[in-house]
Amino acid sequence: MVERTEKFRAMKQRGEKITALTAYDYPTARLLDESGIDIVLVGDSLGMVVLGYEDTTRVTLEEMLHHTRAVARAVTRGLLIADMSINTYDTPEQAVATAQKFVEAGAQGVKLEGGTSHVSQIQAITSAGIPFMAHIGMLPQSVREEGGYKVKGRTQSEAEALLADARAVESAGAFSVVLEIVIADLARQISQAISIPTIGIGSGAHCDGQILVTHDLIGLFPWFTPKFVSPEVRVADEIRRAVRAFIERTRGTARI
Ligand code: KIV
Repeated sequence: MVERTEKFRAMKQRGEKITALTAYDYPTARLLDESGIDIVLVGDSLGMVVLGYEDTTRVTLEEMLHHTRAVARAVTRGLLIADMSINTYDTPEQAVATAQKFVEAGAQGVKLEGGTSHVSQIQAITSAGIPFMAHIGMLPQSVREEGGYKVKGRTQSEAEALLADARAVESAGAFSVVLEIVIADLARQISQAISIPTIGIGSGAHCDGQILVTHDLIGLFPWFTPKFVSPEVRVADEIRRAVRAFIERTRGTARI
């Protein structure tokens, strides 16, 4: 399984940008895969953009596995990574057991949130031969403790801690690291300091790749769009238009 992730380090060396998007269902995953995306992530953003929770802290392992199975039926070309939901990786043993459940569900690797704080869990997962994507910076599973989605790396001590996180996850065997809402200059420095690719979200253009929640990219969750996203299309508007047209056509036909 690990061979599938080696190409990403090579892409970084060649200066080729890595593309990643989220999917939670079969048709979306198949469309992303057919379009040539490098990495499909079954993110626990599932909780917000699909299940209607306020944040990702209520997403369960069962929900994540259910959606991972659907996405796995669609992805044949890209690398399929699944997010480990909150409280499913509190110890190294639990982290490996959870990661194995995702692999059984069809994931080719897993992601969890944390840097130096989770080195033992990351080492345990990578020692079990399961490809691992790290996630540092703003950690959505900690949004309640943090009191919101705040930009990371503004102060010297935060910047040093993030650099230490990046180095720690690389040494623990991660094949890539997501940098979420990290100030752009620090994201650039981190990308230069480590040899695994950085995949940015709201962290500027100098990361080795970019990831977005697909619903944000295509305007499918119009009630909230992060500041750093410029949707390519507004699918929600198209759905509303089609539904109104259907309603009018049906009611019009009924009167004839
Ligand atoms: O849950 C998620 O979708 C993520 C991202 C990095 C987009 O973790």
